Amino acid sequence: MKKLLLMIAATLMAVSCAQDKTPKYLVLYYSQTNTTKAVAEELCKKLGADIEEITPVNPYNGTYEETIARCMRERESGELPEVNPIAANLDDYDVIFFGYPIWFGTIALPAASALKNVDFSGKTVVPFCSFGSGGLEAGIKDLKAAQPKANILSGYGVRAARTDAIPAEVDRFLKEGGFIDGDYEEYEAFSAVRPASEAEVAIFNAAVGTYPMIQEKATNVASRPIPGGTEYLFDTNAPGIKIYVVAPNGKEPYFTRVVR
Ligand SMILES: Cc1cc2nc3c(=O)[nH]c(=O)nc-3n(C[C@H](O)[C@H](O)[C@H](O)COP(=O)(O)O)c2cc1C
Repeated sequence: MKKLLLMIAATLMAVSCAQDKTPKYLVLYYSQTNTTKAVAEELCKKLGADIEEITPVNPYNGTYEETIARCMRERESGELPEVNPIAANLDDYDVIFFGYPIWFGTIALPAASALKNVDFSGKTVVPFCSFGSGGLEAGIKDLKAAQPKANILSGYGVRAARTDAIPAEVDRFLKEGGFIDGDYEEYEAFSAVRPASEAEVAIFNAAVGTYPMIQEKATNVASRPIPGGTEYLFDTNAPGIKIYVVAPNGKEPYFTRVVR
C-alpha cells in the first residue's frame, strides 16, 4: 500500500513538473526586406525565444523587379532555391514560430525550400508572415500541405505598410494564444453579414484606395466595435475574396488584410 501511494505521489509530481516546465520556443524565419524580420524579432523579444534566419545560398539581393523576374524563372522551372542548412536542433524546442513573406500568394520560395529540409512532425508550429496585401490563409494552407504531421496553429500576418502595428499586434496575438501572460481586451464577434450601405462602401473605397492589387468592389459586410473604432469584414464581387478594414474614430480607414 505504501509503495502504491509513493508511486502515485511520484506520478503526480512528474505531471506537475511537466506542467511547470517553461516551453522552449524557436523563431525560424526568412525575410528579404526585413518586414518579416521585424515580426520575428518582436516574437523573440516577447517569448525569450531562440531565433534563426533562413538564408538562401544565392541571396535575393536584387531590386523588387529583379526579384520578381528571378522568382518567375524559378517558379516556371519548378526549382526551389537552395538554402543553407538550419543550425538549430528542432528536437530542442516545444514550439516553432515559422515566418515568411508572401510571394505570389503563398510562402516565399526560400522558406518553402527550407520546409523541404525540415521535419515538423509532432511539433507545434505557429505561422507568421508579412505581405503587401494578404496571403495569411493561403500560406498556412500550403504550410499544412508541406508538413502534414505538424500541429499547425492559427497565425499572424501583417502588411508591410503597417510595421508600426507589429509590437501591439504581436503582444495581443501571443496573449490570445496563451504564449505569454497578461490582460488583453476581448473583441466582440462580427455582426451578421448584411449588404454594405453607401457609407460602408465609402469606408471600403477609402481604405483600399488606389492599392494596385485590389480591383474588387465591396458587396456585403459584417462589423464589430473595437477599441477606438470599428472593424469591418467586407465581401467583394470576387467570390471568396474578403477584405478586413479598420475605421478608427475620426481617422482615415485602412485595410489590414485581404483573404484570397
Ligand atoms: C517576389 C515577390 C512576390 C510578392 N508577392 C506578393 C503577393 O502575392 N501578395 C502580397 O500581398 N505581397 C506580395 N509581395 C510583397 C511582400 O510579401 C511584402 O513586401 C513582404 O512584407 C516582404 O517581406 P520581407 O520584408 O520580410 O521580405 C511580394 C514581394 C516579392 C518580392
